[in-house]
Amino acid sequence: MNQLVIRNAQVVNEGRRFNADLVVAGGRIERIATEGIGDVSAAQEVDAAGRLLLPGAIDDQVHFREPGLTHKEDIAHATAAAAAGGVTSFMEMPNTVPNTLTQALLEEKYALAAASSLVNYSFYMGVANNNLDEVLRTDPRRVCGLKAFLGSSTGNMLVDDPDTLSKLFGKAHMIMAIHAEDEATIRANTAAAVARWGEAIPLEEHPRIRSAEACYISSSNAVALAKEHGTRLHVLHISTARELELFSPGPLEGKRITAEACVHHLWFSDADYAGKGALIKWNPAVKTADDRAAIRQAVIDGRIDVVATDHAPHTLEEKAQPYAKCPSGGPLVQHSVVAMLELARQGVFTVEQVVEKLCHAPARMFDIPDRGFIREGHCADLVLVDPNAPWTVSREGLFSKCGWSPFEGQVFHNRVLRTWVNGRSVYADGRVDRSVRGERLRFDR
Ligand code: DOR
Repeated sequence: MNQLVIRNAQVVNEGRRFNADLVVAGGRIERIATEGIGDVSAAQEVDAAGRLLLPGAIDDQVHFREPGLTHKEDIAHATAAAAAGGVTSFMEMPNTVPNTLTQALLEEKYALAAASSLVNYSFYMGVANNNLDEVLRTDPRRVCGLKAFLGSSTGNMLVDDPDTLSKLFGKAHMIMAIHAEDEATIRANTAAAVARWGEAIPLEEHPRIRSAEACYISSSNAVALAKEHGTRLHVLHISTARELELFSPGPLEGKRITAEACVHHLWFSDADYAGKGALIKWNPAVKTADDRAAIRQAVIDGRIDVVATDHAPHTLEEKAQPYAKCPSGGPLVQHSVVAMLELARQGVFTVEQVVEKLCHAPARMFDIPDRGFIREGHCADLVLVDPNAPWTVSREGLFSKCGWSPFEGQVFHNRVLRTWVNGRSVYADGRVDRSVRGERLRFDR
């Protein structure tokens, strides 16, 4: 018996839109029929007339807080939010507690996800000043990448020892993702702000403290090191116009140095601090409207290769603290697809570009052989979207454990109706099926 038949969908895939019926069996897309499939039966039948069918998004940067920080978020809640948002695979960061700095700790996270993740998963191996041997034991076929904080953020995982950095860039045997903000610049800017305001530093100062200069110094140093050593470098969450000169336009294939933009840097600007305050405090900081415009342009011309969320929840109590104690980060994984489609509706991107950056490019960049595309033989990670269903984000509809969103009150015109992971319905009409489990991502390297 076929698992699922979807009829009359408008498929958006690989730069094209076309009407098709899909047959899913054994967790994979068995047939894509543009002429209709006729009298085929299945356990689940869905009429998708008037709806868009997209590949599930693959988010290459999230913080799901497990283990150790589960008062903010956990894998069960975060993956319910992901499913509701059309994100069917994630790659998670090592600044959990304990930090993911050994192979044993890394495998513990995979075991946690096997038990509770509703979508497909992978976890980065964390780099510190003193764990290079352990880092080099990471299996590139079973782990998405290495992650180094070249600027401290939540969790104090700074890698700043010059000798370690040079060895790391020389020896890294797989994609290395970095957080790039120069620590010395941030420290000097913080000291100046404290001298001026004491404890009452206004939130609007965040982009001047975590400044454009701090970003450029760190990311340009990293790119120089990567060029010297031939490292496969991926610079996360680009937040400034100036950094974009470090990356090449054009297709991903063959690049050794790639860049990611996050939804919040594409959506918000410093004009939003007045209304949203700490809810849009991120590292790197949301910067000017000119920076945002330049990052949007770079998504189009290819200097930005992928778009992700950096989903990083904190509680509202934590966020209510004064500037110096207020942690950076916020929940986004439930709204990345609809926010990007909203930008497409506004004419910033095309829907095809959104699918490229959220779905196809992460699969290609990380060498995931059978996800991220709607192709026969690929895993059936699919998202059904109503493109004409305006709705308002409200607290009641949120799945993240932290219970708030920077998008509360926002009207989105696209709505995720259904999400399938490996052919199984994990989200439908506002409800998550918590019995579904995702799979560990495999990498064809
Ligand atoms: O704003 C951020 N929050 N940026 C990061 O790099 C880390 C994240 C977190 O873990 O809270």
